[in-house]
Amino acid sequence: MGLHLLGLHNIVLTDIATVMPALKRNLKSNKPILGKTLKTTQLYWTNSDQIKALSLPFDLVIATDVVYIEDTVVPLVSAMEALIGDTGTVLLGYQLRSPEAHQLFWEICGRAFAP
Ligand SMILES: C[S@@+](CC[C@H](N)C(=O)[O-])C[C@H]1O[C@@H](n2cnc3c(N)ncnc32)[C@H](O)[C@@H]1O
Repeated sequence: MGLHLLGLHNIVLTDIATVMPALKRNLKSNKPILGKTLKTTQLYWTNSDQIKALSLPFDLVIATDVVYIEDTVVPLVSAMEALIGDTGTVLLGYQLRSPEAHQLFWEICGRAFAP
């Protein structure tokens, strides 16, 4: 939402189904400041159809505190790759929550996003 206020366009906020109502409530309560309703869509990192349905690629993907379950690390990195294509950037807000997920995440990122 802050990035919209800074002038970024074509912003899509995503999360899993159970979180979407909270996400939409949050957006609604910020509508007076935002001046519009930003786009939202349900997106599971494992669901390639949901990813392909977006207008790919994105210039920027922002994710915070998403590396915490080892089993979701591979689909998370695959989703990031698909969302940014060859030219975009992932901006990650990160905190170490699971040593196993942390190790796997950075190992895969080293291969996936190597120059
Ligand atoms: C620890 S919360 C962080 C929430 C928020 N980004 C923050 O920083 O406060 C992890 C987020 O990842 C989402 N998430 C977890 N597994 C996911 C998956 N398989 N596909 C998409 N989102 C997922 C959760 O729904 C949740 O919003």
